[in-house]
Amino acid sequence: MTQRDKAYQLSNHDFSFLCQFVYDIAGIVLNTSKREMVYRRLTRIIRERKLASFTEYCDLLRKEPEKEKDYFINAITTNLTSFFREQHHFDYMTQHELPKLIRNSLSHHKRLRIWSSASSTGEEPYSIAITVFEAMKDQLSQWNLKILATDIDSNVLDTGRKGIYDERRIEDVPRKFKEKYFHKGVGKNSSKVKVDKQLQQLITFKSLNLLHDWPIKGPFDIIFCRNVIIYFDKKTQQELFARFYEMLTPGGLLILGHSENLGEYQAHFENVGRTIFRKAF
Ligand SMILES: C[S@@+](CC[C@H](N)C(=O)[O-])C[C@H]1O[C@@H](n2cnc3c(N)ncnc32)[C@H](O)[C@@H]1O
Repeated sequence: MTQRDKAYQLSNHDFSFLCQFVYDIAGIVLNTSKREMVYRRLTRIIRERKLASFTEYCDLLRKEPEKEKDYFINAITTNLTSFFREQHHFDYMTQHELPKLIRNSLSHHKRLRIWSSASSTGEEPYSIAITVFEAMKDQLSQWNLKILATDIDSNVLDTGRKGIYDERRIEDVPRKFKEKYFHKGVGKNSSKVKVDKQLQQLITFKSLNLLHDWPIKGPFDIIFCRNVIIYFDKKTQQELFARFYEMLTPGGLLILGHSENLGEYQAHFENVGRTIFRKAF
């Protein structure tokens, strides 16, 4: 931490207020181990707002919560993600789920809906889109395919919508996919790639707080909810699982992140792979 940053004092009282504020808005539980992170991420806003202290910032949040809450949430959320993160989930789709859906589809009902429910900057829904395209290549035109990508953070949604990434972010993407689905920039954009339009057309990016109402239309065949529920408490997690259950088709999949599990809600699903759960038929 720089000398300049140390100029701001973060008292226990202000830290408790900030923890409660983020919990009330996003369900994210912050404990004292996150104090440094909160400090780092919020000092930027304090400077931008030309405030003198964390106390002044907390006062501003109390006075104008509606106006300030998006900046606050965008600063505080952890958006770490990557293309084909947890590859085994995409392998399961390729080897089991998509062939099964294709086999079982009726000629008049070729409908597939997938929801990436904490999509961050878009790498997850684009990886899903590539996986679906590859599995359905011969019969894409017969299918009504849609991927919904949602997140609470408006900045990451903008990045996802644009679909422009540093080339380094696709280093580990198989070469055949790089060539087929990413276009290299030219001139001052030569270190960037843009995802192909056909993938973008499949995905709708939308702001959605998992804790609030979900103004979306299901049911979904697959829901990805990866690496977000770890930030929630057990009660919020169980409530979410019940809502995801309702949003899934019978036999649909709920896919969680590597360190996440369904806890007591496991009884409603069958565990069919590493952190892959199938709603009972
Ligand atoms: C670590 S990222 C995970 C991204 C992706 N699912 C993955 O596994 O690579 C967690 C995402 O959850 C989002 N998030 C946090 N709280 C949320 C909430 N209450 N509603 C919706 N999204 C939320 C954050 O903005 C962040 O983009």
